[in-house]
Amino acid sequence: MVRVKKIETVSLVLVLVLELVVAATATNVTYDHRALVIDGKRKILISGSIHYPRSTPEMWPDLIKKSKDGGLDVIETYVFWSGHEPEKNKYIFEGRYDLVKFVKLVAEAGLYVHLRIGPYACAEWNYGGFPVWLHFVPGIKFRTDNEPFKVEMQRFTAKIVDVMKQEKLYASQGGPIILSQIENEYGNIDSAYGAAGKSYMKWSASMALSLDTGVPWNMCQQKDAPDPIINTCNGFYCDQFTPNSNNKPKMWTENWSGWFLGFGDPSPYRPVEDLAFAVSRFYQRGGTFQNYYMYHGGTNFERTSGGPLITTTYDYDAPIDEYGLLRQPKWGHLRDLHKAIKLCEDKLIATDPIITSLGTNLEASVYKTSSGSCAAFLANFGTQSDATVTFNGNSYHLPAWSVSILPDCKNVAFNTAKINSATESTTFTPQSLKPEADSSAELGSQWSYIKETIGISKNDAFLKLGLLEQINTTADKSDYLWYSLRMDVKGDETFLDEGSTSVLHIESLGQVVYAFINGKLAGSGNGKQKISLDIPINLVTGKNTIDLLSVTVGLANYGAFFDLVGAGITGPVTLKSAKSGISINLASQQWTYQVGLKGEDTGLGIEDSSEWVSKSPLPTKQPLIWYKTTFDAPSGSEPVAIDFTGTGKGIAWVNGQSIGRYWPTSIARNDGCTDPCNYRGTYKATKCLKNCGKPSQTLYHVPRSWIKPSGNTLVLLEEMGGDPTKISFATKQTGNNLCLTVSQSHPAPVDTWTFDSKISNRTTSPVLSLKCSVSTQFISSIKFASFGTPKGTCGSFSRGRCHSSRSLSVVRKACIGSRSCNVEVSSRVFGEPCRGVVKSLAVEASCS
Ligand code: GAL
Repeated sequence: MVRVKKIETVSLVLVLVLELVVAATATNVTYDHRALVIDGKRKILISGSIHYPRSTPEMWPDLIKKSKDGGLDVIETYVFWSGHEPEKNKYIFEGRYDLVKFVKLVAEAGLYVHLRIGPYACAEWNYGGFPVWLHFVPGIKFRTDNEPFKVEMQRFTAKIVDVMKQEKLYASQGGPIILSQIENEYGNIDSAYGAAGKSYMKWSASMALSLDTGVPWNMCQQKDAPDPIINTCNGFYCDQFTPNSNNKPKMWTENWSGWFLGFGDPSPYRPVEDLAFAVSRFYQRGGTFQNYYMYHGGTNFERTSGGPLITTTYDYDAPIDEYGLLRQPKWGHLRDLHKAIKLCEDKLIATDPIITSLGTNLEASVYKTSSGSCAAFLANFGTQSDATVTFNGNSYHLPAWSVSILPDCKNVAFNTAKINSATESTTFTPQSLKPEADSSAELGSQWSYIKETIGISKNDAFLKLGLLEQINTTADKSDYLWYSLRMDVKGDETFLDEGSTSVLHIESLGQVVYAFINGKLAGSGNGKQKISLDIPINLVTGKNTIDLLSVTVGLANYGAFFDLVGAGITGPVTLKSAKSGISINLASQQWTYQVGLKGEDTGLGIEDSSEWVSKSPLPTKQPLIWYKTTFDAPSGSEPVAIDFTGTGKGIAWVNGQSIGRYWPTSIARNDGCTDPCNYRGTYKATKCLKNCGKPSQTLYHVPRSWIKPSGNTLVLLEEMGGDPTKISFATKQTGNNLCLTVSQSHPAPVDTWTFDSKISNRTTSPVLSLKCSVSTQFISSIKFASFGTPKGTCGSFSRGRCHSSRSLSVVRKACIGSRSCNVEVSSRVFGEPCRGVVKSLAVEASCS
């Protein structure tokens, strides 16, 4: 008895000690009208989205480091329910789904985490992040006041909160998570759910709060988010947003740094001048937390891409590209912006801005502390003309659609339209890879194959009267569903005379249909939500087979009732005699169904099989063939891509890891492209497009960590027909070309900023800085240099009317042989080629 007492006392003491330790390391996160308040101090926070399953654990440390170097304070991610619980109650927290590891890595780097649990994510993720089994829970209705849904949502949300708590990852426990999100943009669509939508939203809020994370919760795009949940803004601009209570800070959870890509679409991009403008406008008008969606977009491996028809790349034109390389000058210009904003932090958190007009489309915001220190933002939101404004008695040049940041209310540290970071293109270098067996052979000489049966081949095929909706039938276990019909054509049937043409009419909800008649591909088509095909076919007397293969390309992820849009061949399906015009309805017939392909069941992508055939010739340009080859790793450590040009469409695996769907024959629409794009004026997703008329995606990321030095296996399931021997590998690297134009009106580099009050009227000149990104490289040549009025852009620079003859020699002297160099942009250095003109220095340099 006494012993027990003693143990109890000891454990009590231990618990108390532990609690004290936690209390000592715990971070207290609250908020007020101005900002998130961390340990009693308001914070100006800059955040960026990195979705952990869109890269690999091996990539995470570098991505996080590049985020930190880029000036981020917070990493934001959704939690991907379908990845963590692909089967009900069977949780996965490993590999790319090792959320705990990801959060800990962010913490180790000294950054915070915003965990958007959802668990509805949207995110161009398959089914918006919901596992498809959820759809089959009896009586369920998604995202509304429905008991079965709420039970599952609460269970998963609580599970994630528990996992995080167990690992002490909330700031309240000493961890990095300072904020959590419940639901996602429900306010955009809740009216479609009527009163039940409202009660569901309120339930979500109180359910989340009941989980007691010790840190605030937010709801994005939910203007009626109940207290104390912070309603936040998503969009290309959020400067006009105000939260629903004066006690909540102005927060921006998704600032779209570009946009996602769809198969068949040109590639969207967002000029950094506009992105920086949007961010600056937000902080200018009282914002204190901003998140780039995405900061690194990454890759939709496996069948995780949403849609329909979202590509495998989720590059997003983000500051860090799909492969983990810096996108320049985007990354660098935003880094400078973040520095400039941070120079204003103590002023920004002290007070609300005083906003005044400086003229048409011109606006000043001033933040002044009680001790008199002051920061200002000057904006020109006109789209046409530059302006010169007078502020506090000084004159400032403001290009159209730009903001200048003055951390001391006097000197300009940064202007959103004046880029001080060099353009640095990235390039793919083709690699010829030798397979392990024969070192003299190129990749592709050693392909083996397995033909997938056209039509029904599996024992679990079943009969059903009428046409079935695809998602309900496959439960998304596979992209593929066979609809198969046998038809007897008797000689005396007039409307289907042998040899004469009939027309097979097929309507499908998407996304791809292949029609095989008697084992031969007769036609195909694709579409987002509707496919209508009229395929001329010839039937034979006697037995005929009609095998329709319907393929999904990512399940819908957005909109009210997105879970119910459906897919597959839901009809009508008819057969019409070209001769007699008589038509018969096939939709109501008895069809045979097969979910998935035989090779998927065998696991051809994942496991080895004795069925591979290696005899030549290799069948090419035929539908439904599995191909396999081996390859050695491309040398070096640079990121790797496979160029699928030459193939049609399918899914690929490297060493058993699915690298996603490939579809190089999906060609981008040939209209709407503008490259370059005028950044001035309101951006939208269709404003700046490139790659019109070209394949939407030819290059597919293969993470380095999935590749061994030699003896790697590449397997593909080619569904349309293609030639896999045309496949090639490439590595991606930062190009060795640097280009930059800095004018005399540019501010000095933000890194050289000082608040030194002794420097009363600063004359710090602008500087053109170049740096080779590879640490072993040096600037080896100056391809172009002109101080004066140079024209053109990178690769096409030319001298203008005004040009200093010293340009090349000055830049060469300063730069050649060094990894980095700084050249002052002034007539003091270059002489005076033309008086009374604002001059620029344009340089193109190479590193080697
Ligand atoms: C938002 C959504 C994100 C993502 C984005 C577009 O509406 O919240 O999850 O889908 O659009 O990339």
